Amino acid sequence: MSENESDVVITALENGPYLVTGAARVNDPDGGAWDTEGRATIALCRCGGSKNKPFCDGTHSALGFAAAERAVEEGT
Ligand code: FES
Repeated sequence: MSENESDVVITALENGPYLVTGAARVNDPDGGAWDTEGRATIALCRCGGSKNKPFCDGTHSALGFAAAERAVEEGT
């Protein structure tokens, strides 16, 4: 494992949420934490439409959320 790797992996799903796998703590702006105890995977809203932020509630599908971003390899 390189210094840039960790046990937490965040994957941007196609036109959907960020899927977070691993033991991640999700803090609010005041330093409080949402209860993610025992959840191996969480989905964080990136469309802005969830009624259960910061978590995805599936609303992105109804909104037709589209995100075309892709990671670009260094040196390419
Ligand atoms: S990404 Fe799913 S509700 Fe926003």
